[in-house]
Amino acid sequence: MTARRPSIGILTSGGDCPGLNAVIRAAVKTADRLGYDCVGFLRGFEGLADPVAYMPLNPRNTAGILLQGGTILGSTNKGRFSATVGEDRRLSIDRGLLDEAATTIRQLSVCGLICVGGDGSLAIAQQLLEHGLPVVGVPKTIDNDLGATAFTFGFDSAVACATDALDRLHTTAASHERIMVLEVMGRHAGWIALHAGIAGGGDVILLPEIDWTFDNVCRTVVQREAEGKRFTLIVVAEGARMPDGGLVHAAAATDRQQVRLGGIGELVAAEVSRRLRREARTVVLGHLQRGGPPTPFDRMLATEFGAHAVRLVHEGRFGEMVCYRPPDITSVPIAAAIRELSRVDPRGSAVQAARALGIGFGDAPDQASPFGPHCSSGGAPSA
Ligand code: F6P
Repeated sequence: MTARRPSIGILTSGGDCPGLNAVIRAAVKTADRLGYDCVGFLRGFEGLADPVAYMPLNPRNTAGILLQGGTILGSTNKGRFSATVGEDRRLSIDRGLLDEAATTIRQLSVCGLICVGGDGSLAIAQQLLEHGLPVVGVPKTIDNDLGATAFTFGFDSAVACATDALDRLHTTAASHERIMVLEVMGRHAGWIALHAGIAGGGDVILLPEIDWTFDNVCRTVVQREAEGKRFTLIVVAEGARMPDGGLVHAAAATDRQQVRLGGIGELVAAEVSRRLRREARTVVLGHLQRGGPPTPFDRMLATEFGAHAVRLVHEGRFGEMVCYRPPDITSVPIAAAIRELSRVDPRGSAVQAARALGIGFGDAPDQASPFGPHCSSGGAPSA
């Protein structure tokens, strides 16, 4: 009789994104080669508590999922485990649920639990850890808003989707001499808008991190027309604030759900159209950004994350979250990772490059000088 192998548990939690299956596949293949069995908990943390829901995972039933979007394990956003987030971003999860999860882990002889999720899910993972569960974290989100890692997988795929949308909007905008507004996801971070806006040749990019006004947006459109460009592409992040400082949301926050952002694109298009008496249309890209196959970059990153997560379990380094610090895949404490959210730096190189090309951010013209006062006033240094 062969001895039973120890098990590694895996779950995917929060909003899905391309690359989750690549993490699962990589973890399962790595674990198998190191002598572990794997068990996948279904619907995120929900699968850990009554009614417990899981499936065995092995290299055979995870073959071919590298390129599949979504997650074969399913996911839950804001389920029973996500209690209220306090000001210090701490959750207080029902103790009974934590005990149920601990019992499940013990009964299935799980020696390490890999939790794949964004900041909210990793905060839940941290509570499981503090309850004595052997947890490691893998960061995922299309929003790229976790400061501990240079990139999260899913982000590149979302940017590819938004860039493709801009490529398509470009031709129709030019043909009809219209203003096209593309609203993209990203929550309170403007990473998707910034990267897709630059990669897709946007003319104005509106971000949560840079205050903007309609006067300045319209000035960019008028300037373009003066240069003979009779169409404009505006990329707006769903979390950008209106000039009066307000967020535009599709659904209000509840004690469990964060505010659901959405709708700013339509407001921007309507006001710019009204002011300039020009035709404007809006496209809200929505969940298209979260679906479909991961890009090669995301497959690569997700694969490295999955393999590294198993290494953390194997070495007993619980409470760590894998992260990408180019050129290395390494790890940081989950507790530190969930404290450090990442936002676009208005003075960062990507914003500077965009400004250098004449892309507008809707802020005051004196802010729009790309490389600061030295270069803008001085020109090339004399020999
Ligand atoms: O965090 C990922 C994300 O897609 C955000 O960009 C977006 O605001 C949110 O999730 C949408 O959540 P839901 O799928 O619950 O509508």
